[in-house]
Amino acid sequence: MSETAYLNGEFLPLEYAKVSVLDRGFIFGDGVYEVIPVYSRRPFRLPEHLARLQHSFDAIRLENPLAEAEWTRLIHELIGRHTVEDQSVYLQVTRGVARRDHAFPKESTPTVFMMSGPLATPSNELLENGVPCITGEDFRWLKCDVKSISLLGNCLLRQSAADAGAVEVVLFRDGYLTEASASNVFVIRDGRLLAPPKNHLILPGITYDVVLELAAACAIPIELREVSEQEVRSADEIWVTSSTKEVLAVTTLDGKTVGSGRPGEIFKVVHREYQQYKRKVMRQAA
Ligand SMILES: Cc1ncc(COP(=O)(O)O)c(C=O)c1O
Repeated sequence: MSETAYLNGEFLPLEYAKVSVLDRGFIFGDGVYEVIPVYSRRPFRLPEHLARLQHSFDAIRLENPLAEAEWTRLIHELIGRHTVEDQSVYLQVTRGVARRDHAFPKESTPTVFMMSGPLATPSNELLENGVPCITGEDFRWLKCDVKSISLLGNCLLRQSAADAGAVEVVLFRDGYLTEASASNVFVIRDGRLLAPPKNHLILPGITYDVVLELAAACAIPIELREVSEQEVRSADEIWVTSSTKEVLAVTTLDGKTVGSGRPGEIFKVVHREYQQYKRKVMRQAA
């Protein structure tokens, strides 16, 4: 299947989508993005993704080039131009093309780009056995709530995980859990679900919200508070969550077994609820 992209007002084959080398996204990483999972050809939690996108625009002082209704229409059209049922829509907006100067250009037109590909959720093998993770120091900037395309810190951290044969790197800042290179992190201790609160140190994950809603519906006690490194290292369960990973159990951390070394009982409950929930929401949207 040849993939279709959207670039500045037109749909075209992905390989024909080209931007100038002076685009501030290329020169400075000056832009924001979103990744939206699509189940049965319907975007999951689209209003929430578009609200987070608006938060990112506000944070980088870039005017949103499209109204919410227009984003919604274009995203549906992009999905419709692909044949797979479950997709992952990637969209990015940069400050546009201008002579290289750090300060914002007086006049520039934002570059709007979107593409969609098959959604690759974790295999049954990963779900059944869990995944290895390592830990690392969170050396990223202090605006991690912004979904910025400047991802060099995240890339360096993720590569440290890849080098170690791990799936993710669980990050600590000043001795407390933040998140992972491309996921949020949850911890289970004594039957309670612990997670860092939403602030400037983590991306406010859309999946994070869904997991908290499902846990609350299952009467799992929740504590949103700072979680110490020691609490993570001695946790009964650790999960990573994201739009593409959904909910995934971490079974080793820095080579040491987490809990029983198998995906935990509370993970199984929340993972099952997540699968049911996403299909139910999609049926309702039909
Ligand atoms: C740094 C970071 N944290 C958390 C997440 C999870 O966010 P979401 O659940 O909206 O995919 C992501 C997703 O890419 C991420 O890059």
